[in-house]
Amino acid sequence: MNSLIEAINIHKVYPGPLHVLRGVDLSIDAGEVVAIVGPSGAGKSTLLHILGGLDAPKEGQVIFNGQDLYALSDIKRAQTRNSDMGFVFQSYHLLPELTALENVILPAMIKENSRKTSAIEFAGLKLLEQLGLFPRASHRPNQLSGGEQQRVAIARALMNGPKVVFCDEPTGNLDSVSGAMVMDTLLRLNHTHRATVIIVTHDDKIAGRTQRVISMKDGLLEHSLRNKLFAR
Ligand SMILES: Nc1ncnc2c1ncn2[C@@H]1O[C@H](COP(=O)(O)OP(=O)(O)OP(=O)(O)O)[C@@H](O)[C@H]1O
Ligand SMILES: [Mg+2]
Repeated sequence: MNSLIEAINIHKVYPGPLHVLRGVDLSIDAGEVVAIVGPSGAGKSTLLHILGGLDAPKEGQVIFNGQDLYALSDIKRAQTRNSDMGFVFQSYHLLPELTALENVILPAMIKENSRKTSAIEFAGLKLLEQLGLFPRASHRPNQLSGGEQQRVAIARALMNGPKVVFCDEPTGNLDSVSGAMVMDTLLRLNHTHRATVIIVTHDDKIAGRTQRVISMKDGLLEHSLRNKLFAR
């Protein structure tokens, strides 16, 4: 078995009680590119956060790379997140006082418990270059367009060479050209580094470019459809 992420009987309940996830079972292979789709409120972001170690389920397990994610100590889980997972959110979450390059290299500095070194800066600049942002390296987020900020967030997500990149509506704020570029970048990353890519999206064009589309409804998985025409 080659699954990178195995979610077993995941339940999430918010006060109300609001039973947002009602027993989700899901397995994602290493190297897969998966879209998660479904109506607003279906529980997509909640599931993504649980898979990514950001939010503990009420019940159930997430096995990541052979380890029970929520059985790890908080510190171990944070280390796993920082070194093996990348996150791209709809609203970028860049730090406004840092330049593009500083935002990108922050995860590496945390991982190595290091100050800025020229090796880390070089790696960050290389990522920015791959994303067409080399000339923007010293700009701050408020000096960048939405698509540029999203690409900086992607570069940051890739900085530590993650096994998986979780994306929550990564193209939600972008026009279709910038959205297609973001998707190109994610597919290239999947192709060159075999990184697993999981994308929550409302955009059929984005979902149509993935290998498998999982649809959610009312806190449960509805279908899982493989795309035979998938091409990286
Ligand atoms: N922190 C919270 N406290 C209480 N309820 C929450 C919380 N976060 C999410 N919910 C509720 O859980 C349900 C699922 O939310 P979730 O964000 O996972 O939906 P989604 O499928 O990502 O929707 P969208 O497509 O609109 O982003 C919603 O009804 C939401 O109101
Ligand atoms: Mg959401």
